[in-house]
Amino acid sequence: MRLDKFLCDCSDLTRSLAGRVIRRGEVIVDGIVVKQPAFHINEQSQIEFDGVTLSLDRRNRYFMLHKPEGYVCSNEDPDHTTVFALLDEPAVGKLHVVGRLDLDTTGLVLISDDGQWSHRITSPRHECAKTYRVWLADPVHQDAISLFADGVFLRNETDKTRPAKLELLGECEARLTIQEGKYHQVKRMFASIGNKVVGLHREQIGSLMLDETLELGEYRELTAEEIALF
Ligand code: URA
Repeated sequence: MRLDKFLCDCSDLTRSLAGRVIRRGEVIVDGIVVKQPAFHINEQSQIEFDGVTLSLDRRNRYFMLHKPEGYVCSNEDPDHTTVFALLDEPAVGKLHVVGRLDLDTTGLVLISDDGQWSHRITSPRHECAKTYRVWLADPVHQDAISLFADGVFLRNETDKTRPAKLELLGECEARLTIQEGKYHQVKRMFASIGNKVVGLHREQIGSLMLDETLELGEYRELTAEEIALF
């Protein structure tokens, strides 16, 4: 494979930028500066760029992040820092968030570059459950349990929400498990019963729980068993 194509695949550089950094002498192949974008590399080649060793290893990447407030779950944002700023990984531009959280929501965020895996988690057809800890402005009435189990109408939606499980943990605190991921779904569900979410934290996706050893802003790779859950 050509060195410029390899660099472009393994980084956030475009093909022409990759060619430029190679010609500038910023890329080292097996300990030697190579300035020809068309230079041929193989499986054994060790390529260094920007202080990182890159390889032809094409395995997908999977991470869980404990998202803090104030970070946006998108690859680019003009106004806020994105969750990708928390990752110390090469080619973060090749990664995507698997099911976004709002700017002010904390908790479990999955990040990957495996589109099919992500689809199994986010597509409504797969009914992958997401569990949230919710703090509310006003006390939650017991009736909310059956209302959410039956489904509620969200503003500007024609269909009811799918059956959701609500556990009351305190006067103004609950755990809610939903099978879908409509825009601001949890906040809108509570708004539909006249309450307001004042704190929201995602604890679990499917049977994968947020690793309690991760502090806010920390992340780790998923294990093979965790990846295989979806
Ligand atoms: N529902 C919301 O309202 N916000 C989130 O961040 C996630 C689910």
